[in-house]
Amino acid sequence: MPNNAERTYIMVKPDGVQRGLVGEIIARFEKRGFKLIALKLEHATKEHLEKHYADLKDKPFFPGLIKYMASGPVVAMVWEGLDAVKTGRVMLGATNPLASAPGTIRGDYALAVGRNICHGSDSVESAEKEIALWFPEGVIQHTMASAEWVF
Ligand code: PPS
Repeated sequence: MPNNAERTYIMVKPDGVQRGLVGEIIARFEKRGFKLIALKLEHATKEHLEKHYADLKDKPFFPGLIKYMASGPVVAMVWEGLDAVKTGRVMLGATNPLASAPGTIRGDYALAVGRNICHGSDSVESAEKEIALWFPEGVIQHTMASAEWVF
């Protein structure tokens, strides 16, 4: 049963912010029909990023990933809508931009896995954890005028 109110955590990484792609990434999610329920610009600490990427701590690229992610502010967002996690990942494109299809965010704007401009939750469970980590203050509950028949 598809979930109309599924939530995903989407993050514009430091290279995406510095390259001026924040508006483009937000526009794609808005135009697709997702609802923005949380948004902030944050220069995350290494400790915070180590929590976000805790599952990867034994990977050889982990130190470089944390250094990259701590190099500048990121834009943290929560988007809500039908199958938001899966569709969000499709919109971002494959993790390695060399394999990302044209028309996806990475397929259009990125070249290297270590500079792939955006992050999206890979499961509903991950989304819940990531939203709690990045938005401990909670998200905005709001109803769009046409929420029942447009998505
Ligand atoms: S793995 O090894 O299969 O668990 O990794 P993967 O699922 O492909 O990617 C997990 C996250 O690690 C990032 N990643 C990297 N960052 C920097 N350098 C290298 N070489 C690298 N390889 C993978 C990748 O972008 C994923 O992070 P997110 O934030 O989800 O994009």
